[in-house]
Amino acid sequence: MADRLGVGLVGSGFIADFHVQAFVGVRDADIVAIQGRNPGTVRRLADACRELRVGDPSTYSDVGELVRDPRVDAVWVTTPNHVRVETVRAITDEVTSGRARLAGIAVEKPLARTVAEAKEVLEMIEGAGLPHGYLENQVFAPALNRARELVWRRGAAVAGPPYLARCAEEHSGPHRAWFWQGAMQGGGVLNDMMCHSVEAGRHLLTPPDGERLMWLRPTSVNASIASLKWTRPGYADELIRRWGPEVDYRRAPAEDYARATITYLTAEGQQAVAEATTSWSYVGAGLRLGFELLGPEYSLAASSLDTEATVFFSREVRGAAGEDLVEKQNAEQGLLPVVADEAATYGYTEQDRHMVRAFGDGVMPAETLHDGLFVTRLLMSCYLSAQEGRTIAWDSADVDEFVPEVAQGTWRP
Ligand SMILES: NC(=O)c1ccc[n+]([C@@H]2O[C@H](COP(=O)([O-])OP(=O)(O)OC[C@H]3O[C@@H](n4cnc5c(N)ncnc54)[C@H](O)[C@@H]3O)[C@@H](O)[C@H]2O)c1
Repeated sequence: MADRLGVGLVGSGFIADFHVQAFVGVRDADIVAIQGRNPGTVRRLADACRELRVGDPSTYSDVGELVRDPRVDAVWVTTPNHVRVETVRAITDEVTSGRARLAGIAVEKPLARTVAEAKEVLEMIEGAGLPHGYLENQVFAPALNRARELVWRRGAAVAGPPYLARCAEEHSGPHRAWFWQGAMQGGGVLNDMMCHSVEAGRHLLTPPDGERLMWLRPTSVNASIASLKWTRPGYADELIRRWGPEVDYRRAPAEDYARATITYLTAEGQQAVAEATTSWSYVGAGLRLGFELLGPEYSLAASSLDTEATVFFSREVRGAAGEDLVEKQNAEQGLLPVVADEAATYGYTEQDRHMVRAFGDGVMPAETLHDGLFVTRLLMSCYLSAQEGRTIAWDSADVDEFVPEVAQGTWRP
């Protein structure tokens, strides 16, 4: 491998675009290749790389070709959930057959749609002998990590470890048809967004020098899901109008609201609780991420919409709808928050920097696919709890073959 890590992006959609922006803050690496089904988005993303000076990527339609490109040292997998297994198989086949050499692979959240798929992905990657990273950006978010480091160092060191984490992620609904379809995405908002919130909760409750998989042992999971907005007849019609007949919430709805309470036992034998709330039915300025951590003599709070800057547009200002102020923006008038550098605020920049450094050094990143698999187990236990209307004891939870009703298209809210 050269001094600089050559990164290949597999997929050229929404999140690939965020990675390109994030690489502005990444040293010692370039985006050297991009693969996608749509030549137009691949070309636009490659142009953006050149414009931002984060690389001069070659473009491919075939995943195998990208992996065989000698400039590619590591790949970022950003294809949709329903093609996660086949995408990873195409990559690892190149490596195990000796046609390509890689120093690492990073995979977007959620790792997969089910525990069975998550295990398959992990086994293929470990079978190919590759270091692996789980692209869970929120555990790299600077505000979260700075505040976490402070409360653990100043608060927990004096008064004892924290006992309650609350994490929330809400917006008004996803940006592509496949997210809305339970079978393709693996569920609704619980799979799509609670993967972030359960991992952020686990992260906050774990000491900065601790190992999450060692520090926190789940004891029980209790969750519920609902369709609060998008099965209302007018909104079900709106989904069909927006995304086509495949997104039919009268026939096959997915949850647009989920809450979960996960109880843990710490390595020191104390109880800790993580609450998570997620929704696709929040209409506010835009994407809202909320974090709280409570301990015996201290607390932490962060919200992505408490921004450093706001703008105001009077009713005389009528502009085109856009997402230039904040992701999933819902309005263009009134008092509006501005997230100045979304790639940094949401943690993509620090995440990509960390992954590049780990792969360049030939070591495992701090967030691996073992974390991704663990999160998938938590999420499937949440679906099981919601389906059966009971608290699931962690030790008795057998979710290896579990497929949520929402993903099967049989859920009736
Ligand atoms: N970390 C985050 O905050 C975050 C945010 C958004 C999405 N994601 C994750 O990233 C992944 C991609 O999401 P996205 O929003 O970029 O999706 P997207 O639909 O915008 O982009 C997906 C890309 O994969 C390509 N693709 C390859 N095979 C495909 C197939 N069979 N069907 C459809 N597309 C195919 C598409 O052409 C496109 O380039 C998902 O796993 C999603 O959960 C993570």
